[in-house]
Amino acid sequence: MSNLHVSTHPLVKHKLTLLRSVSTEHKKFRELIRELAMLLGYEAMADLELKDCTVQTPLQLAPGHHLQEDVGLVPILRAGLGMVDGIHEMIPGAQVWHLGIYRDEKTLRPVSYYNKLPIEPTVQVCLVLDPMLATGGSATAAVEVLKNWGVRRIKFVGLIAAPEGIQAMTEAHPDIPLYLAAVDDHLNENGFIVPGLGDAGDRQFGTA
Ligand code: PRP
Repeated sequence: MSNLHVSTHPLVKHKLTLLRSVSTEHKKFRELIRELAMLLGYEAMADLELKDCTVQTPLQLAPGHHLQEDVGLVPILRAGLGMVDGIHEMIPGAQVWHLGIYRDEKTLRPVSYYNKLPIEPTVQVCLVLDPMLATGGSATAAVEVLKNWGVRRIKFVGLIAAPEGIQAMTEAHPDIPLYLAAVDDHLNENGFIVPGLGDAGDRQFGTA
């Protein structure tokens, strides 16, 4: 699948293993989410467009580059929040647009509850941030919102996906690339990714 990018970076694999561990406490868990988001965001932004420029060094003019596109970081609340800061540090000019979407516990269908996007799109590229791609309902809904907003390029940056979520995203949005740290085995009867890492929102925010 050409739109599926599963990181092979040793740091990603190492940090993801620590993240999965049941003995990793909330503070460390948040640190790891931030670091993994940074590493995956770096991979996801490898094709950002540049424009040529010149820069005055202490010695002379040198050729350089500026980012051409305005980038939006779009965390899906709540768990996507922890992925914002690491990426935002690398690209401080990015805009952050939050989307509130939770998954109904019984139906597993996404429920949207927060969206303050202005009428006209203000960015050309959006990174949708959510550590977990389970049924794919939340990510699919978020991408739908951004497409309707009029964003030209959208990428999904997650940490762990179930095959079911990848299939749902690929069917609904075959044009959207997925950047992940791992693809796990399956979803259990409660819609949790197995082996996964549990509930990424609860583990970040201490609300289990
Ligand atoms: C979790 C997770 C994703 C979603 C994934 O959020 O952070 O947003 O479920 O599941 P899906 O692919 O089946 O839609 P949750 O609904 O638990 O909300 P929360 O982050 O506010 O706790």
